[in-house]
Amino acid sequence: MTATAERNPSNYQDFTVIRPGRHLGAEIRGIDLSEPLDDRTFARMAMAFFDNEVIVFRNQKITPEQQIAFTRRFGVLEQHVRKEHRLDGYPEILIVSNVLNEQGKAIGVEDAGRFWHSDLSYKREPSLLSALYALEVPVKNGIVLGHTDFASTTAAYDTLSGEMKQRLQDLKNVHSYRYYRARNIQAQKEEQARGQRTVHEHVLTPEQIASVPDSEAPIARTHPVTGRKGLFINEAHTSHIPGLPKAEGDALLAELCAHVIKPEFRYAHQWQAGDLLMWDNAAAQHKANFDYELPLRRLMHRTTVRGPAVA
Ligand code: SIN
Repeated sequence: MTATAERNPSNYQDFTVIRPGRHLGAEIRGIDLSEPLDDRTFARMAMAFFDNEVIVFRNQKITPEQQIAFTRRFGVLEQHVRKEHRLDGYPEILIVSNVLNEQGKAIGVEDAGRFWHSDLSYKREPSLLSALYALEVPVKNGIVLGHTDFASTTAAYDTLSGEMKQRLQDLKNVHSYRYYRARNIQAQKEEQARGQRTVHEHVLTPEQIASVPDSEAPIARTHPVTGRKGLFINEAHTSHIPGLPKAEGDALLAELCAHVIKPEFRYAHQWQAGDLLMWDNAAAQHKANFDYELPLRRLMHRTTVRGPAVA
């Protein structure tokens, strides 16, 4: 974890929470995820998670079965639309990686998290939380690359003016996987034209695309667990704000997205192999950083828990 200790450590009896981020981000010490957690410890840990929006358990040694069993305690696990990048035998695990197989094909999603987003926000039942387990991290000259940035959408909402909160009250936004794919493919082409890294993109079938139709959600969304309001709008998936003229909608989208990622709402996670990092998709957005390339390898396993339907 980076950043100064601005929040105090707390003792939850069975484990300790260290809070380096100002609004979000905490390290939980004293829990071994390869062992089943008793219900009381699990409930306290879940409380610490929703209080802190992003948490890390360092130095974990877990199998895919153990990651699935642990995250399943929070709810139903999703099977990602990109089935070509699910872990063999474990469809609940999405591989996030820049590693290529012997045929030169990407074994996982190479550019997950290119834009600020929350996972699966384009679903009618958007993800509640994700857990990313780091098996390999890229290290150059002793420095770990490929950190992940997070921003608290609840802290961002809290600081909006009363007038803006009023304006957002009845507004919705459309989250679209198709829109995201088009943006992502355009960004990949631009990178290639600049002579930057090549993403080995797998073309999705029409059935895959059809399985993730657009979905409408409130911009100011009430968190399904904590009841806090947060900004549920992001640059990756929000295609437009229905009911507003395009120029006005685009301007509002840009204003809100820029607001969420202001430095005061941020936490940067510096990875270590063995980290199990969990983030609350209803309270935080995130973005990956691609400052590494093969032969530096990054290999992670993600599980994603389904949340309740948005109203
Ligand atoms: C993601 O967006 O799920 C991946 C984030 C990362 O690889 O840092």
